[in-house]
Amino acid sequence: MKICCLGAGYVGGPTMAMIAHKCPHITVTVADINEARIAAWNSDELPVFEPGLDEIVMSSRGTNLFFTTDKVTAIREADVIFVSVGTPTKTYGAAAGRAADLKYVELCARDIAAHSDRSKIVVEKSTIPVRTAESLKAVLCANSSDSISFQVLSNPEFLAEGTAMEDLDDPDRVLIGGEETPEGKAAMETLAGVYATWISRDKIIQTNLWSSELSKLVANAFLAQRISSINSISALCEETGANVDEVASAIGKDSRIGSKFLKSSVGFGGSCFQKDLLNLVYLCEHFGLPEVAQYWRSVIGMNDWQKRRFSNRIINSLFNTVNGKRIAILGFAFKKDTNDTRESPAIYVGRDLLEEEASLAIYDPKVTSDQIYLDLGAKSEPNHEEKIEVCSDAYEAVEGAHALAILTEWDEFRDLDYRKIYDRMMKPAFIFDGRNIANRKELIDIGFNVYAIGR
Ligand code: UDX
Ligand code: ADP
Repeated sequence: MKICCLGAGYVGGPTMAMIAHKCPHITVTVADINEARIAAWNSDELPVFEPGLDEIVMSSRGTNLFFTTDKVTAIREADVIFVSVGTPTKTYGAAAGRAADLKYVELCARDIAAHSDRSKIVVEKSTIPVRTAESLKAVLCANSSDSISFQVLSNPEFLAEGTAMEDLDDPDRVLIGGEETPEGKAAMETLAGVYATWISRDKIIQTNLWSSELSKLVANAFLAQRISSINSISALCEETGANVDEVASAIGKDSRIGSKFLKSSVGFGGSCFQKDLLNLVYLCEHFGLPEVAQYWRSVIGMNDWQKRRFSNRIINSLFNTVNGKRIAILGFAFKKDTNDTRESPAIYVGRDLLEEEASLAIYDPKVTSDQIYLDLGAKSEPNHEEKIEVCSDAYEAVEGAHALAILTEWDEFRDLDYRKIYDRMMKPAFIFDGRNIANRKELIDIGFNVYAIGR
């Protein structure tokens, strides 16, 4: 069997590497229009940082795993084609800021139709709004000869960045949606057979197309809702003297609630949560359900408020002005163990502080300085560039800083020498722990003014 994947991003790359690694009998080709990205996938420095990814890629690359810009050949030779291109929130025209922009998905469908000379299975891997499969199928059928047919499947990805390889190796479930026709069932069975090479059959769920598409949005909406719920309580804890981590631990012991995804933070980020919530909101509005739309929109509203509240806390604590003050920021990725910064809370907090004329000294173990400058509008916003310094370690960042803000929960930030950090900072020295990872008592004993979330 030959598999092709269009899109060599955070989802396509790791997912295909795992399939190739687990299925030596399948040839997997990942095609992308971005030449630099493909060159990186073929080099020693992969474009995506994920624990365990390098080993998995190296185990199959050049044997049954290939990265190429030649999508025409990849499409022509494949039996199964995954579409794993970006589906960002629309930034223009109707429903801008809410609906998903499906132009990349549609372009893939047109490419597949143009370069297929036999029937194929097309798998939606990108997060897409419900009923996209229908549009995909329409574009495929309208642009190909009558002698060939396409089965469109939905196979949403549930991996989380930072643990992608574990999630792919041992997922809670694999979801496959398809048409309820004999051909649709056969296509679902073909794809299920690939996953069954290493995943037990009882974890491979088959549903109709719309259930599968909607489940992806709903899973992310529920996860995001838990974070917004606990973050709302963090504000109440700060007012009342309760400790949000103690509250989370106490309620999480109830097996009906469960303990995961109750870590209060500066806010959730990542490419999925906000985008999928917006998608869900848009769908509800489209289908005439404004109350449901409003309910889910409030999950995003709470997240925006939490990020803004954190920036305001820094500004208020520093005697209502950060103008000209150096603020050290530890962590720029949206969570630990990834170099991804999409929707990272650090971008929002960083921009708020820059607006207030602060100088930022930023350190992240994996995010490149180019990415940080880009995200903070160094080139596009006046005066931003000279106010941003990207540092090579935490101690350099805190040198002469009035405040330190921890925005990503990288393990190395737990073990820093905070006495040394204190000595290097201006006094009074402030720490704003947006991830509740530092030892608050120890920091207070050293002499810091400490602000942690929900305490
Ligand atoms: C998410 C989903 O978990 C995954 O199933 C889906 O396929 C893609 O979207 P991801 O965005 O990679 O994955 O990471 P996730 O671990 O879900 O974290 C998202 C954000 O929420 C991060 O900014 C993280 O720091 C934050 N978070 C997570 C919290 O603030 N508290 C928590 O308890 C958990
Ligand atoms: P995700 O997190 O969903 O994987 P990314 O933005 O990381 O999203 O990756 C999407 C990839 O899809 C990008 O590398 C982009 O260049 C690629 N891409 C976009 N359009 C096409 C296309 N028509 N054919 C092949 N690759 C494409």
